[in-house]
Parts: sequence; C-alpha cells; structure tokens
Amino acid sequence: MAKRIKIFDTTLRDGEQSPGCTMNLSEKIEVARQLERLKVDVIEAGFAISSPGDFESVKTIAESVSDCTVASLARCTVGDIDAAWNAVKGAADPRIHVFLATSPIHMQYKLRMTPEQVVAKTAEMVAYAKKYCSNIEFSCEDATRSDWEFLKVVVDAAIKAGATVINLPDTVGYTTPAEMQALIQYMMENIPDSDKIEYSVHCHNDLGMAVANSLAGVQGGALQIECTVNGIGERAGNTSLEQCVMAMHTRPTLFGELPRIDTKQIYRTSKLVYSVIGQTAYNTQPLVGANAFAHESGIHQHGVLANKLTYEILTPESVGISTNQLVLGKHSGKHALAARIKELGYDLSDEQVGETFTKFKDLCDKKKVVTDSDIEALITNTTSSPEDERYKFVSFTVATKGRQGVEGTICLRHEDEFIEKTYCGDGSIDSLYAAIDKIVCPPEHTLDKFIINAVSEGQETLGEVILKLRCGDKTYNGRGLSTDIMEASIMAYLGALNQFMD
Ligand code: KIV
Ligand code: ZN
Repeated sequence: MAKRIKIFDTTLRDGEQSPGCTMNLSEKIEVARQLERLKVDVIEAGFAISSPGDFESVKTIAESVSDCTVASLARCTVGDIDAAWNAVKGAADPRIHVFLATSPIHMQYKLRMTPEQVVAKTAEMVAYAKKYCSNIEFSCEDATRSDWEFLKVVVDAAIKAGATVINLPDTVGYTTPAEMQALIQYMMENIPDSDKIEYSVHCHNDLGMAVANSLAGVQGGALQIECTVNGIGERAGNTSLEQCVMAMHTRPTLFGELPRIDTKQIYRTSKLVYSVIGQTAYNTQPLVGANAFAHESGIHQHGVLANKLTYEILTPESVGISTNQLVLGKHSGKHALAARIKELGYDLSDEQVGETFTKFKDLCDKKKVVTDSDIEALITNTTSSPEDERYKFVSFTVATKGRQGVEGTICLRHEDEFIEKTYCGDGSIDSLYAAIDKIVCPPEHTLDKFIINAVSEGQETLGEVILKLRCGDKTYNGRGLSTDIMEASIMAYLGALNQFMD
C-alpha cells in the first residue's frame, strides 16, 4: 500500500540561516503557526545550539504548535544534542535531527575525521540522542557526493543506533533526478531494516534541480521531502515546498499518497514568508508569482476561453489565490465583509473583523472598489499590528523648501500626549523618519530593507511598505498599508520602532 508523503519544512532553519532571510522571535512564531495551518508534518524550528535566540525560538515554537512534529538540528556532539533536546522536549511530538558529513571532501577537510571515525561517531551520537527521544532523524551531509558503499555503512550504523528517519541531502545541489532516484532505491534495497525507517531527501537548488531531484527521490522510495516556503535558503535556495506539493497534486499517479498539505494555504504562506523577510516573488515564479496564472497571448486566451484545460494544468484557487470578480464597496456592510473574510479562508475574532471593517470603511473613502487582494492586505495588517503600540501615528505634512530640501512634520501620540516635530532633509521619507526619530529617540539603527509593493491594480491601489531595521544583531520588521505611500512608509517605520522600544 502506498504510504503518505511527508513534508518537512525547514524554512525556519535552513531558510532562515541564509543571508537576508533572518527573522525575529515573533516573526518565527507567526510563520510556525501558518505552517501548522498549511499542515506540514514536521517544522524544523532552528538549530538550538547556534545562539540563545535560536534556542528560545525553537523552544517557544515547540510549545506553541500541537499538530506538527517539531525538530531541532544538532551536530554530532553531546552539547548540540543536549541543546536540541532541551529546546524541543516540550513539543507534542519532538524530534532531534542529528547530522554528520559523509563525503570524502567534507570528512578530510572539514571534519578531519577518517571514515571509520565518522561511522563510530554516527553510532555513538544517534544512540545518545535516542536516550532522550524516540524520533531521531540522521542526515548524511553531502550524501550525493559520498561513496555509496561507505554511505551504506553509515546509514546501517545510524539505523542500528536508533535512527527512525534517514535523510540523504544533496547539500551542494550537485545531483540529478535519475541519480537521486537510484541512490534512494539502492539504499532501500541494500540496507537491512530499511523497511522499518523512512528515507528523506533534502535538496539544494544550485543547478535549479532541487524540486526535480526531490520528486525523483520520492519516486525512488523516499517518504519525506525537506523543503522551504518559496524555496528560500543558502545560495540558490532549497527545494520549494509549494512547487513539490503542487507537482504531486497535478500528477497524482506518479507519486505515493499525497501529502496532507492544505494547498489553499499555499499562497498565503508564501506571502507571509516574503513579507517577513522583506522580499517579493519574481513575476514568473511558479504558483505565487504575479504572472503565474496570467494568459496574455491571444492564442492562449482563445484556448482558455474555449476550454480552460487547454493551457491551465492547475487553478489559482487550488493554491488559495482568489479570482473572485465580486468587489465590495462603500455600500457593503460589516456582514458582507465578514462573509468575504470567511470565504477567503481567514478565521478572525469578532474584534479583528471589527478592526478590519474600520480600515475597510476608511479605504472605501479613498478607493471605489475594494478587491480581495485589498481585503487580504487589510487583514494581514490588522492581525499583525500590536494593539498597545507605544507611539501612535496621528498626522504628517511635507513641504518642499527649494534648495534646502524637504520639510517633514510628524505628529505622534504617546500615552495622552500629542508630540509634533519637524525635520528638513533630502527627501520626504528621509525627513519624516528623522522627525519621528526626534520624538522616539531610538537607539542607533540602520535601515536594512525598504520595499514598496502595489497590492492591487490601478492608480488608487493600496501601497504596502515593508522594511527591516537593524539594531545591533537584532532585526525588526515593519509593515505599513495605505493608499498614500508616505503614510504607509510612516506606519512601517513606526511599527518596527515600536517593537524595539518595547
Ligand atoms: O544541506 C544540508 O546538508 C543540510 C543538513 C544539515 C541536513 O542542511
Ligand atoms: Zn540544507
């Protein structure tokens, strides 16, 4: 009988450890909750030993998630395994993920260990981890550049010591689909007790083959795919979760039993991860890019109008993109908005619906039609903005002063006091941010990222500003939404400042 394929999400570990993708604790928790809604099987929440912050976030996620296994990565050392266990032990289903490199180049130059030492260390450390936890994954780092006969010995030792999942990573994105399929088949056929454990694949995308290689691994017999949302990760990234899952859904006869993923949560998860790391999908990005479902050429449009299946192998709705043409406007009431929010798949409290409705009404004064994208942006803004912000935005003005530059004046409310400051700088945003600094007096910080997105189409579209502030080794994200891009920029900046002034 076909076994269900499991999705192991490493967005918060392998994804987050890559430059430009760092997240703070509250962002990681928000992403973990969404991964649970997406119904991934395993969340690799971090690498507990790597920093106190990582330990804290793995522990918090382990305690906040109930429907997924929560794993922490550990090298083959007692300290790493102790930290991993201490971080995940509060989870409903904890896992320790131990790894050691097995390729000649890694063993000789990185580990400075002989092959015999690698086998012995594997057995010793898997057995050590097993004393804490029944669910142990062992990864042979750089497996695809390892000697298969040697790999067999290491994997056999790991299984005998108690590993329940064996992962064969393509650490440097070097393998090909045929080779990956053959590798998994070879291990399954040649290692006793292979039927008692699960094989897993973990592919990097250096040659653009991570998804193809992972799917080939599944065809070879692997039951777990390690991947990240939007394929974020080191260098060219990891395997994209959404592409793997939708490939299996589109060609269900080619793989085992489909993963339990709620595919309608894919688009929302992708957007959340992008907004947290301050990036956006590229236009032609499969499934989540702006053009992924657009048919512009006449021939294609003609075909799609005659029969959708001529050029469409999957629908935008299947990944949770709404194509509803019904729009809401200023005559729509709270019930209509609440019903639309529900149809879009959001489960908001009455209070959150109320807040979204207030923002919706404000928006209707500025924009004739409010689309689903607008509503989704308002919801994201409502659910993630802290209620007890220290400094609240009241108003702003900007005035050009010829050669002197631009004068920005800002008014904020702090407790019951209204404070107004002015600054004359190079440009509008620069002056407004400096005026805010005069009120808030934040510690020294830099603006790491500043992105402006249009939420829908047309001149009166909502503008979204996403930014990332760095203060020492910590980063804070801010998100602002308004039909006025300067106002959105202020909200984003203030949102980030309010976090680090707490
Ligand atoms: O790419 C890799 O080999 C890894 C392992 C630590 C699983 O990320
Ligand atoms: Zn990796």
